[in-house]
This record gives sequence, structure tokens and C-alpha cells, in this order.
Amino acid sequence: MGMTSTERSTGPSPSAKTPSAKDRVLAWLRAHVFGLAIANLVANVGIVVTGAVVRLTGSGLGCPTWPKCTDESYVAHEALGVHGVIEFGNRMLTYVLATIAITVVVAVWNRRGVIRNLAITIACGVPLQGVIGGITVLTDLNPYVVALHLLLSMAMVGLCVWLLDELRSPVRDAAPRSVRVAALVTFALGWVTLWLGTVVTGSGPHSGDLDSRRTGLDPALMSHIHAYAVYALVAATLITLWLGRKHAYVRRVTIVLLVIELAQGLIGWVQYLTDLPVVLVGFHMLGAALISAGIARVLVSTRAHTA
Ligand code: HEM
Repeated sequence: MGMTSTERSTGPSPSAKTPSAKDRVLAWLRAHVFGLAIANLVANVGIVVTGAVVRLTGSGLGCPTWPKCTDESYVAHEALGVHGVIEFGNRMLTYVLATIAITVVVAVWNRRGVIRNLAITIACGVPLQGVIGGITVLTDLNPYVVALHLLLSMAMVGLCVWLLDELRSPVRDAAPRSVRVAALVTFALGWVTLWLGTVVTGSGPHSGDLDSRRTGLDPALMSHIHAYAVYALVAATLITLWLGRKHAYVRRVTIVLLVIELAQGLIGWVQYLTDLPVVLVGFHMLGAALISAGIARVLVSTRAHTA
């Protein structure tokens, strides 16, 4: 018996296909893109902290060469002891970071413009950091190369924050010019502080290996110069807060930054006065990554955002 017209219209259309496994995976990734971008940020902050563990346990040359761990082997072996395990473990995290970053790129591939470009830049930063990490080993932990390695991770953290803001943040107009300038000055002073921090480290005792080269600068003097930059940063943050007080989002993120700065400044002084206990220095590294996130967030909060 033939179908009535009603039966024909309610039945499956000959052109409607069940989505393929690839389409289902893509749909899932797109639906969870914000969570994946948060994972991207957490992973980049996380590797700053595990990198700190490498340095603070003196494991910087736990794998004495690169890209192999030793001349004979790609992986750490027993003779390299705990330092080998720590350094090799940190190297392996690169793959975790790369997997997350590539997943984010796939998830935003259908989006044009800044979102896609940011995701691609972050993903390209991972192998770049892998190579610079390798150069730090091959230069026997030259303090300037170690500093570059850390600062690039800080930049990746900032880019992850920018991507999150583009993906989801309150709809808003651009803040007035004075607020944008104050936020930019805060951002710049934050970066000066981060860089001076690496100079202090490069002059101090926690080089990552007992025999590696130091900058030759006086660590106490450099610590004070680093702290002066922090005071300027806190002042710029207060000015941004004052000028941006009528903009709810700017005000909120600037207060968060101020709280992180005060906590980080306190840790900085306590570690300085107590001869740099490694646990505190580790927290100072975490704080530095959070500062990088905070200054980036304040800066982007002053830009316009549409839904
Ligand atoms: C917003 C506040 C601060 C930020 C963002 C910051 C950032 C940093 C960074 C990025 C490093 C380098 C870590 C590395 O290369 O592994 C560092 C090291 C250091 N900072 Fe700060 N810092 C802040 C406040 C302070 C303050 C107020 C002091 C007090 C003197 C201080 C003392 C030190 C010392 C002594 C080191 C060297 C630690 C070591 O040898 O491992 N910091 N800081």
C-alpha cells in the first residue's frame, strides 16, 4: 500500500543524514570551547609552577642534553636520579600543553578573526617554548635564556586570558581614553616587574644547577629595584581603579589584580628576608603567572566587547 502525503512529510527526509562521528566530536568541542580555553590557561600557569620545581630542586640539567635526555637515550633513566625524573617530567608536560592547545584550535576553527588567531598563536607557542627550553639546557642554563623561557610562558598566559575574554565576557563599550591609558601603563609596568624578577633570579642562588652561570649583578640591589617597579605597578593599578571606578567590569578585574599584587608583594618580601626558601619562591612564581593573567585581563577589560 502507498504512503499518504502526511506519512511522507513526517518520515525521515531522504537528504537528512545522521551526523558523522567527526561532526559530533566537532559539535562537542564547540559547545565546550570555553572550558577548553580555561584548561589552556590552567595548563600554561601550571607549567610555570612545574618549571619552578625544576629550578628550585636543582634539576635544571637533570636531563643533560636536548632533544634527547642523554646522548644515548630519549628518556630519563635510573642513573639520572630524581633530578632526571623531574626535568624529564616537565619536558613531557609540553605534550599535554600541545594537546590542549591544538584541541582549542580545532574548537574555534570555524570562528574568524582574533579568536582563531589567538588560538593558533598559543598553539604555536608550545613547540617554540619546547625549543627554547632545549636551548636553556644546551647553554647550561644561561640566566638570560632561562629568563626568556619564563617570560614567554608569561606571555602565553596573557594570550590565554585574552582568548577567554573574546570567547565570553560582559558586553561593554570601550572605557574612556584615560582608563585605557592607565590600564596600558599598568600592563607595561607589570611586564617590567616580571622582567626585573627574572634578573633577580638570574643573579641569585636558585639557578637550576649548582654550577651554572649567574648574571654577576648584586642580588640584593636587584631585589630592591624589582620592588620599586612593584610599587610603581601598585600605584598604576590604583590609578586605573580610580579612573575606571564607574565601569563595573574594569573595577572588578582591577580589584582582583590589586589583591594578587599585594599578596605577591608580601610573598616577595618574606622570601627576600628569609633567604629564599624554595616553597615560597615556588608560590612567588605562581603569583607571577597570576599577575601576568591579571594585567592582561585589566587591559582587555577596557576594550569594547560585543556578544
Ligand atoms: C607584583 C609583584 C611581583 C611580581 C609580579 C614579581 C615577579 C617575579 C618574577 C617573575 C620573578 C622571577 C622568577 C624566575 O625567574 O624564576 C621574581 C623573583 C624574585 N622576586 Fe619578585 N615579584 C613581585 C614582587 C616582589 C617583591 C615586593 C619582592 C621583594 C623584594 C620580590 C622579590 C623577589 C626575589 C628575591 C626574587 C628572586 C627569587 C629567586 O632567586 O628564585 N618580588 N619575582
